[in-house]
Amino acid sequence: MSNQLNKRDIKSSLGENNERFNIIFKEETGSTNTDLKKLALENNADNAVVIALSQTAGRGRLGRSFYSPDNSGIYLSYFIKPTLNEADIVALTSAVAVSVCKALEKNADINPQIKWVNDIYYNNKKLCGILLEAVRDTSNKLLGIVVGIGINCVRSTLPVELEDIVGYISDFCEDFDINRLTADLLIELSHTEELIKDKSLVIEYKKRSLVIGKKIKVMDEPMYNAYALNVDEKCSLIIKTEDGDIKTLSTGEISIRIDK
Ligand code: BTN
Repeated sequence: MSNQLNKRDIKSSLGENNERFNIIFKEETGSTNTDLKKLALENNADNAVVIALSQTAGRGRLGRSFYSPDNSGIYLSYFIKPTLNEADIVALTSAVAVSVCKALEKNADINPQIKWVNDIYYNNKKLCGILLEAVRDTSNKLLGIVVGIGINCVRSTLPVELEDIVGYISDFCEDFDINRLTADLLIELSHTEELIKDKSLVIEYKKRSLVIGKKIKVMDEPMYNAYALNVDEKCSLIIKTEDGDIKTLSTGEISIRIDK
């Protein structure tokens, strides 16, 4: 990796796009998503991006924590004020996954894949997790969506339970520019809604799916085995259970495991 994550180099990599983002850069924070949610509730989140070198309370999907040690990853939260209708907003989570893949493909010599809903994998290791959180005012009006992204960049000491799961870009690609990757990620994120509007999302998502055509375990109560058939136009997962039932899993409700 060429240098450390820093605001100056992210801004210079953004070039003429620099003015479009208000980058709030922190050495350490609890959670960049929490910081940005607070700004959104104060109506100060337009164009804001919170980036931290480490998080002490990084959050993942389904109430899990996200391990965020110092100088090891990109921990970033980006604010989207959706112009989509409510029915299309559900596809945003998949569109963000495609945006992350595009930025990785451009900057590291890898072809990342998306494990439904939106975990990014390479060589069966998780390189990136994504957490979208809606921010609503007291009358339940949607103020926007906080898009939280954690990319594992440089290997660090891992808790034992993560050793078999987590991978780092530096494991697969020696020479990448973390600041350029961050800048390209921001530019891709600013086009996320277009993927949905111009209907290219499903094609782009399917190209990178790690799940379609595989046996999976649906981590519901109770857990069950199934076969992942396809995704529909909103990137919901169409599965066939062992009893032959066809079901559609909506994004965000359930997690799956791929059978080895
Ligand atoms: C997951 O893997 O379940 C999602 C992880 C999302 C982690 C990112 S890191 C930046 C942002 N701040 C957080 O607290 N979480 C997200």
